[in-house]
Amino acid sequence: MSANAAPARLDGLVFDRTDELGAAAHEQVVFCHDRASGLKAIIAIHDTTLGPALGGTRIYPYASEAEALTDVLRLAQGMTYKAAAAGMDLGGGKAVIIGDPERIKSRELLLAYGRFVDTLGGRYITAADVGSTADDLDVVAEVTRHVVGKNAGGSGDSGYSTAYGVFSAMRAAAEHRYGEDGLAGRTVGVEGVGKVGSRLVALLSSAGVERILVADPHQPALDALTSTLAHVRAVPSVLDEDVDVYAPCALGATLTAATVRDMKAAIVCGGANNQLATHEVADELHARGILWVPDYVANAGGLVQVGGELVDATREEVEAKIARIADTTTEILVHAEELGVTTSAAADAVVEQRLAARRAELAR
Ligand SMILES: NC(=O)c1ccc[n+]([C@@H]2O[C@H](COP(=O)([O-])OP(=O)(O)OC[C@H]3O[C@@H](n4cnc5c(N)ncnc54)[C@H](O)[C@@H]3O)[C@@H](O)[C@H]2O)c1
Repeated sequence: MSANAAPARLDGLVFDRTDELGAAAHEQVVFCHDRASGLKAIIAIHDTTLGPALGGTRIYPYASEAEALTDVLRLAQGMTYKAAAAGMDLGGGKAVIIGDPERIKSRELLLAYGRFVDTLGGRYITAADVGSTADDLDVVAEVTRHVVGKNAGGSGDSGYSTAYGVFSAMRAAAEHRYGEDGLAGRTVGVEGVGKVGSRLVALLSSAGVERILVADPHQPALDALTSTLAHVRAVPSVLDEDVDVYAPCALGATLTAATVRDMKAAIVCGGANNQLATHEVADELHARGILWVPDYVANAGGLVQVGGELVDATREEVEAKIARIADTTTEILVHAEELGVTTSAAADAVVEQRLAARRAELAR
């Protein structure tokens, strides 16, 4: 390169995105490439104040490397908040593998990915996410021990635990809004009935929710529910329906200025990560009086399950901790109301207090 060529523009990739991402910059971001298997992965470690960074591996056909980076940074930060809010001694991290899981996933690719995870020496512990499964983790675990949620010697798929946490949070939010037994007789719309959404529908159904509307582009997933549960009905989009509770359980960013403006639901509580398209949407939900249970509070059940493996927690201990998501939800909703702030701000404050206390301890 000639000495007077313009310097490459390198700002704004990771360290200078704190305004946009709304929290401190990430500790470490690792790009991983394996020519032989075609692996292109990014591992992001957001914060290890509370412990090693734990978070799943998303395999997704991102349109660009920039899109993959933005997603992994947001997801890793979400894990820091999720672990802190759930009272786990874990930090936040996440990984993405670029590509369509149906096309790129191979044993070689998973092994190459596992070897990269291993190089981090336990600073990042991986798990499953959209596009990856407990079976995939069994392969990853052949080359690294920094894996949770696998079948062999692990606690397996975390869909039920996540759904149980969402259900507990939703019940707490409904009681806060409508009083005791707040979910009885309500209509709940569940968007996305995969590993989390389908289990949530089953839990809601056994809790006496009167009408459950479900939407999913994958017809067999809808059929499995509507053919066995009488009061479950498939609709093209739950956001267009007159529901009391909207439960986003597919992908994130479905809460936008436009969807919030037209929304009929009084409560939003679901399993999807990063539900707000932008931070400002939290204000719009607040202004419309819609009770939003912050995603990282509601969907921590899966993390509680797989994180429990690291401390040899029993099934009973895990379930009790997941059930406590209801108490955390109530605390946050009450705080938000008392202080007149958004539920997002109230939840962030709980997390930031916990992180600040630990940092102070570590600095002593
Ligand atoms: N599995 C867990 O333990 C866990 C934990 C925390 C958060 N989450 C989050 O919860 C969400 C769901 O996870 P999952 O494990 O159930 O994934 P999944 O892939 O099993 O299910 C997602 C479902 O959403 C459907 N879907 C996709 N686009 C849709 C759309 N526009 N409208 C309606 N449905 C659509 C898919 O067809 C699929 O059935 C994800 O955002 C994930 O990150 C999952």
